[in-house]
Amino acid sequence: MIPTFELQGLTAYGQGGEPILKGVSLSVLPREIFGLIGPAGSGKTTLLTILNRTCELARRRVQVTGALRFEGRDLFAPDLDVSQLRRQVGMVFAVPLPLPMSIRENITLGLKLAGIPRGEWGERAETSLTAAALFSEVKDRLDTPAMTLSGGQQQRLCLARALALEPKVLLLDEPCSGLDPISTARIEEALQVLKERISVILVTNNVKQAARVTDRTAFLCLGELVELNATVKLFTTPEQARTADYISGRFG
Ligand SMILES: Nc1ncnc2c1ncn2[C@@H]1O[C@H](COP(=O)(O)OP(=O)(O)O)[C@@H](O)[C@H]1O
Ligand SMILES: [Mg+2]
Repeated sequence: MIPTFELQGLTAYGQGGEPILKGVSLSVLPREIFGLIGPAGSGKTTLLTILNRTCELARRRVQVTGALRFEGRDLFAPDLDVSQLRRQVGMVFAVPLPLPMSIRENITLGLKLAGIPRGEWGERAETSLTAAALFSEVKDRLDTPAMTLSGGQQQRLCLARALALEPKVLLLDEPCSGLDPISTARIEEALQVLKERISVILVTNNVKQAARVTDRTAFLCLGELVELNATVKLFTTPEQARTADYISGRFG
């Protein structure tokens, strides 16, 4: 089985040369929910943005070394189509950022930019809103402004927007950190269905959420991969003392 992502000695430096990620080696497998936990400032967000090369769009540049493969291909190969990569590796952020347009247009804009024929938009919108567990709540008001949705609904719209492009991987950066328990549960249910088709990398500052929904979990601390294990193992009998301290709330 070809891993979805394969990282070997991935190292990232900030603009001032300070290390953000220190020789991270791991694989993310097809159809798994891969959890990423660790204290603030550990490099979790930086790692996600390297995986779809959106780090190159940021004002603060990072310098990346080491090997990184997406479905067996070098992610930094000169002939790699970066726009296609970003469609295949979708991302949802902590703060929902719907565009100031209708619910429907939030989804169809990305389809238009990706060159998807207009005839497919309606079906893709319905399928992705359903997969994001939002369709039944919005189906009668698709043309109302997205800003009229609740925070939890806006986040599910952002999830639907990413899913409409039919990505192979979804990167979720603390997607439930600002949400109520019901919206959080909806998103967690949606992830369980999604993982039948795609890989999900879920960064979460909620240790209980990682334990509930992920198959394997990596604990990242100050740029270093401390432990990677089956989630059940990592949360019940961690191998590293630093992991035990973190999950029991003794630091971070
Ligand atoms: N481009 C950059 N240049 C310099 N420092 C950066 C850059 N991007 C992130 N950092 C720093 O790297 C560290 C890790 O940040 P981040 O990836 O956001 O961690 P996390 O998501 O785990 O909280 C932080 O100290 C942050 O300030
Ligand atoms: Mg972060």
